[in-house]
Amino acid sequence: MHDDDTFTNPRAHDGGALDELITRRFSRRRLLKGSLVASAALSVPSLQGCSPQPGGRVEDPETAALPVSGRFNFEEIARGSDQTHHVPAGYDLDVLLRWGDPLFSDSPDFDPQSQTAAAQSRQFGYNCDFVGFLPLPPDADDVPRGLLCVNHEFTSSVLMFPGVAADYPSSMTAERCAVEMAAHGGSVVELKLVADRWQVVLDSAYNRRIMADGTPMAFSGPAAGSPRLAIGSDPSGTRATGTLNNCAGGVTPWGTYLLAEENFHGYFQGELTEDHPETPNHQRYGVPGGWFQWGRHRDEFNVSSEPNAPNRFGWVVEVDILDPQSTPKKRTALGRFKHEGAESVVAPDGRVVVYMGDDERFEYVYKFVTEGRYDPDNRSANLDLLDKGTLFVARFNEDGSLNWLPLIHGQGPLTTANGFASQADVVIECRRAADLLGATPMDRPEDVEAQPDTGRAYVMLTNNTLREADDVNAANPRANNAFGHIVEITSPDGDHASDSARWDILIQCGDPEDPSFAAVWNPATSPNGWFGSPDNCAFDASGRLWVATDGNQATGAADGLWGIETDGPLRGTGYAFFRAPVGAEVCGPRFTPEGKTLFLAVQHPGDGRQATFESPTTRWPDFDPAGPPRPSVVSIYRQDGGPIGG
Ligand code: FEO
Ligand code: CA
Ligand code: CA
Ligand code: CA
Repeated sequence: MHDDDTFTNPRAHDGGALDELITRRFSRRRLLKGSLVASAALSVPSLQGCSPQPGGRVEDPETAALPVSGRFNFEEIARGSDQTHHVPAGYDLDVLLRWGDPLFSDSPDFDPQSQTAAAQSRQFGYNCDFVGFLPLPPDADDVPRGLLCVNHEFTSSVLMFPGVAADYPSSMTAERCAVEMAAHGGSVVELKLVADRWQVVLDSAYNRRIMADGTPMAFSGPAAGSPRLAIGSDPSGTRATGTLNNCAGGVTPWGTYLLAEENFHGYFQGELTEDHPETPNHQRYGVPGGWFQWGRHRDEFNVSSEPNAPNRFGWVVEVDILDPQSTPKKRTALGRFKHEGAESVVAPDGRVVVYMGDDERFEYVYKFVTEGRYDPDNRSANLDLLDKGTLFVARFNEDGSLNWLPLIHGQGPLTTANGFASQADVVIECRRAADLLGATPMDRPEDVEAQPDTGRAYVMLTNNTLREADDVNAANPRANNAFGHIVEITSPDGDHASDSARWDILIQCGDPEDPSFAAVWNPATSPNGWFGSPDNCAFDASGRLWVATDGNQATGAADGLWGIETDGPLRGTGYAFFRAPVGAEVCGPRFTPEGKTLFLAVQHPGDGRQATFESPTTRWPDFDPAGPPRPSVVSIYRQDGGPIGG
């Protein structure tokens, strides 16, 4: 969300002879693929417009004798947009946690007419995004339990406070800003399974709120203690007091929760002189963005008072959710950018690989490879793995190869001569370091996840309408890319730690019936099965890819969740599973390990042009005529108890 029209990468519009060559080369590739798709289309006309039904026979043009079935089995929901949610026939949906719901036995009742920071700090936060689930051992009565981790990305001031829209921004008092800070961050909530439905355990010792203010944290890794992180309240540059704009994130193999800080620039006000040493750094990240009013009341969100303050955000934060007293750590080794997603996979040699996107137009895809190895038998030995390792940025070559370029101080251009005096400088100015290495500017990288057991990872590239014809590159082949695409990265021998890989495009989103979009889908995709603006993704228990959108509304239908085939003759076929109420993007998604529950985050329902607390586009999920819409996490079940998606 907060899709402003800016970008900050100075390399964005340097198109030239090389790009032209890339365009021509890739056009040939697409033509080849297009003709394959066209021949497949001729063979499967009966699937056009129908729900995907595994067992439906699709003739593979290459092996016409073999029956072909997809990996999904549910009745697709219809495209459309209205005030509520939709799931397929045979599925149930519970609204599990709403903004303002109690997280503790002593949480105050939700009172949206007069919300306070004290109440909000004991309640579920606003605009839920990432959803993680960590199973716990069953309780003494053998009841299944788990910990749900939910990010609260940002607040929509005019939707959450009554009477604020009329005189915004002056209506944003210090107390309202404090409510917003308490509504940011994350929630950790214990769940138990009662009668096959997950319920919140209010008196759990694990329940925890992590906020933008009032949550002590430590900086760790190469930038900890850098003078560039020092502010008046923390001259050591080692202690933080909160986290913000936590979009997608991750859960590590050792059961910790990663919150990724995304659009931190939007929280800063003030200005720096042109000759201030941090000015070029801040410009590269769009600081100060001025989206929020916190800087009017607090020096640490105002660069005029605290020029280093923005360097304290844009990190990945790790929380040990099994120890509710633990101090969250900002893991600076993973670089500073507008982080989206931090899901990990264990490489064959035991090193841990964390995939990450930098969500802005023309920014990059990264991965971090730990130096140490994951020890499944010694949890405490894994807790600081993310402090040491190598950060890499991706260069997608026109021939389908990919190089992971290491961001290491002293190597290549990352030297004192270029203003990098240490690894601290490299991670703080991660984008500039990646520019110098020649990384590939992408169409807004969002979630990146590894598919279990295939050696592949999938990159959600949400959209980039600012890419011009002379900017296209092989991995970002469309100018004015309004609806995004999904790139597949295949690591050699299943080794995600490798410094090279191959890449391909899985789908190019948008309406396949409209030639102006140059969308590429498997022709078995129904009129409901295509979408725009992929954002979050997840794999279910059987390794199937699911993709949630943020921006499908621009195609004239609500955002939602789709299953997508990644293999076989149906590769690139989408199936519509969930539709959000109007105004909302869909986040999460998260499956329980056995695949029988799907958690989704419904973020900013009721939003829209001119939408306010008094006049939202929906009042989902309560439909209280006097109440606001409430961002919520929902849980979805099959009525027959089977796995989600068939
Ligand atoms: Fe918060 Fe990248 O979406
Ligand atoms: Ca998004
Ligand atoms: Ca996102
Ligand atoms: Ca994900």
